[in-house]
This record gives sequence, C-alpha cells and structure tokens, in this order.
Amino acid sequence: MTFTAQILTLYPEMFPGPLGTSLAGRALAEGKWACDTFNPRDFATDKHKSVDDTPAGGGAGMVLRADVMAATLDHAVERMAEQLRSPRAQSRDDGLDADVSTSLDTNGSKSVRAEPVEASLPADMRTSTSSGQTDRSDPGHYSTSSGSTDSGPAVHTSTGSARTALPANNPPILAMTPRGKPLTQARVREIAAGPGVTLICGRFEGFDERLFDARDIEEVSIGDYVLSGGEMGALVLLDACIRLLPGVMGASSSGDDESFEHGILEYPQYTRPQIWEGRIIPDILRSGDHAKIAAWRKQRAEEDTRLRRPDLWERHRDAPDQSPSGAQGKDKDKE
Ligand code: ADE
Repeated sequence: MTFTAQILTLYPEMFPGPLGTSLAGRALAEGKWACDTFNPRDFATDKHKSVDDTPAGGGAGMVLRADVMAATLDHAVERMAEQLRSPRAQSRDDGLDADVSTSLDTNGSKSVRAEPVEASLPADMRTSTSSGQTDRSDPGHYSTSSGSTDSGPAVHTSTGSARTALPANNPPILAMTPRGKPLTQARVREIAAGPGVTLICGRFEGFDERLFDARDIEEVSIGDYVLSGGEMGALVLLDACIRLLPGVMGASSSGDDESFEHGILEYPQYTRPQIWEGRIIPDILRSGDHAKIAAWRKQRAEEDTRLRRPDLWERHRDAPDQSPSGAQGKDKDKE
C-alpha cells in the first residue's frame, strides 16, 4: 500500500522539496509513498483569507486560528479516509502502470504521487480533484462527536473534554511544534508501519490551543530549538519514515545496527584507504575475525554513548534488553 503523507502548510511549495530526490525521491516515483499538501489559506473564510490573528492576552506575533486549521484538517482527514477506502490505495501491489503526477486542485491542494495510468482504470476510479469549498459542505464530513460546528454552536472551554473522533484506523495526526513531545525512532517506526500520516505545520507564534482540545492531534518536536515553521520538522519526520518503508532501503542496509536501534549510538565506521593522513583503520577491523569485530563494535558503541549521550546510556543501562526504536529483528525491512 502507498504510504500517504498529508501536509497542512502555508508553504506547499516546500514539499516534496528535498524528499523528491535521492532515496525518498525514487520511492515517491515508485509509488511507495505519496505527498498531498493542503493550504489553510484556502480554507479561510474572510475576504482577506486570514489564517492567523493576534494572541489573546497580548504579546508579540500572530497565532494560527483554530477554526481555519480545523477546517483544513477535517478536509484532509476526509480525503485520507477516501483514499484508504479506494482500491487505488493498492495500486503498487496491484502492479498497475504508474506515472508520477503532480495535480493541483481548485483550492490549491497539491498531490504528488505515482498514479496508476488513468486509462487503465474504470471511470469511477479516475482522479477527481479535491476542493475544500465543495467538500466542506459534504455531509460525509467526519465529525461524529460534539464540538462539531455542523451540529450547532457547541461551546467548550479549552480544557473541555469534547473532541472530534477520528474515523477508525485513521493514520495519526501530528502537529509540528517546539512545545511537542520529542520525536523518537520508536515513534517513527510506528508511523512508518501504518498507512500514512497527517502533519500540521505551524508558523508564527504557534496554534490556538483549542485546536488540540477539539481534535485528536499529537504535538511533536524534532528538537530543543525553534524553527521558523514546522515544515522543516515535517520533512525530517517524513525522511525518517520513508527510509523505513518496505523496499525503500536496500536489503544490505536494513538499519538494524544504526544509531538508536538498540537504544545506543552506532559504532564508528571506517573505509579505504587503509592509511589516511597517517591514521590507520583499527587493526581488528582488518582481522577478518567476525566475533572479535562484533565485540569491538559493541564496546565502542557503548563507550561512545556513555561519553556523548549520558542520557541514552543511563536508560540503556537500566533496561538494556529493550529496543526503544521498536526494531523488530534481523529481517524486518528486507525486500
Ligand atoms: N516548529 C518550530 N520549531 C519546531 C521544532 N523544534 N520541532 C517541530 N516543529 C517546530
């Protein structure tokens, strides 16, 4: 099945960006993943197409509006549900001919995916363009619990419990924000094992908090620093997921030994020339003794983790058998 990445962004031109090249680019062309962007600007309702407003209580900058972001998200979630229901989601497995296409619909949503050749599909499976304007009035719009604007002016405080339920098996929705939970290799593995992900990119001073009260959204940070927006974080997260999709990495690099897969850093690597600027590759790596090489690598991985990442080392020491990355074992990603 094609892994679908949906990105809510004011800068759709940033996607697939660097993910259109190299390993991820090839995987995109092969239909192993697809990239759909949704611009909140297209879901703004006032004549100025406002997506943000000044912070309640005062302060610098602007805050992304909950109503506009929720309208964009609801549209994206509905599209994801449609795609997962569609037999086209299976196109790669069905062996249909594929072309990479970029389609732009009337509300500016952009889709970059390897499409099954249209002519080979029955009429009811051919591409239809998505339009936020049309779909928002669609009675099939997901919003089953209270809090929905469809069901009247329900008012909840920001700590209220009402939250719009997601359709069953809906891929996770993540908002990129420095206030979020730090992203881990384990979470990346979980996401990559599913049918896709919806990523919401922040800008300015962040999101109106009520968005997170009203929708099932995980707030995620890619590190303790502040980016100018969530787009770079979304690209990082997607890159980490895409390389784990079945068939994306070669069989020889399944990732079993790399950093974080066993809760510690990877051992150092060397390659030819054997002597460079008077520095020699450690003898043991040239010995051909696989047991000794494995022991050396384990020892260096542990030593480097202890020195460079005492936080990881402490956790590893307390629970050495756990794989925080969620790695499944030797053959997990092999083609
Ligand atoms: N947006 C701004 N800073 C971010 C961070 N550190 N992680 C994720 N999204 C962000």
